[in-house]
Amino acid sequence: MARQNNQPASFLRLGVNIDHVATIRNARGGLHPDPVRAAHLAAKAGADGITAHLREDRRHISDHDIARLSREIDQPLNLEMAATPEMLEIALRHKPHAACFVPEKREERTTEGGLDAAGGHNHLAAYVGKLADAGIRVSLFIEPDRRQLDAAVSLGAPVVELHTGTYCDAHNAGDLDLRAAELARIVDAAAYAEAAGLECHAGHGLSFDSVADVAAIDSLVELNIGHFLIGEAIFSGLESAVRQMRVLMDRARGVASQTARTG
Ligand code: PXP
Repeated sequence: MARQNNQPASFLRLGVNIDHVATIRNARGGLHPDPVRAAHLAAKAGADGITAHLREDRRHISDHDIARLSREIDQPLNLEMAATPEMLEIALRHKPHAACFVPEKREERTTEGGLDAAGGHNHLAAYVGKLADAGIRVSLFIEPDRRQLDAAVSLGAPVVELHTGTYCDAHNAGDLDLRAAELARIVDAAAYAEAAGLECHAGHGLSFDSVADVAAIDSLVELNIGHFLIGEAIFSGLESAVRQMRVLMDRARGVASQTARTG
């Protein structure tokens, strides 16, 4: 059901993606910096969940990180994964709170586009079903596109995450026309998702500068943010970076900041 205009703005959850703590660790090998410690700090600073992507090439998060995150953090763990038999087995073994299917190409620097849920329907259906049967909340990382949302509904995925990468690139490049067009696409897709009964998240590329207009979209219930926060942590510390993001999201949403709860 679409939210009525006279209802108060809802709280927007922040999922903190800690992949790039592991990227820095892996640059030298060894144990430092520890992504699990980062997860604890992010939680203390107001993160509502922790996100980690176990890539096929293990370029950042490792299998051991996923095992430790599953055991050691109190916040819900959102495991980003490709739809492969190996990742399915790992997800079923650790049973994270949520799993988000993302497209994965070995040569890409990051997750460059959304999943083709429409084109990959037959392949994805078995994966969505097996995770759902195990009680894992399934999400699909897709472009803000009605066709992809229709596919998510027909696959029975309860959650979608809209890829905000093109919007953020346009924002950073100062391309105001593309920025406006992309924002309109995200607004339309989020409302369409909500009306279709999907829980709608968004993420990729968001920063202090670009978060406000996305956070203000009432149909969104969660943002997932990683690279910027870990980069910003170099200058201000992770807790400070997460707190400030939380404040910006709350302000955009028109709610009193929740960061006081973390002290
Ligand atoms: N959401 C999903 C599904 C992602 O794959 C990523 C990147 O791993 C993010 C959000 C976070 O993107 P960023 O690191 O650019 O904030």
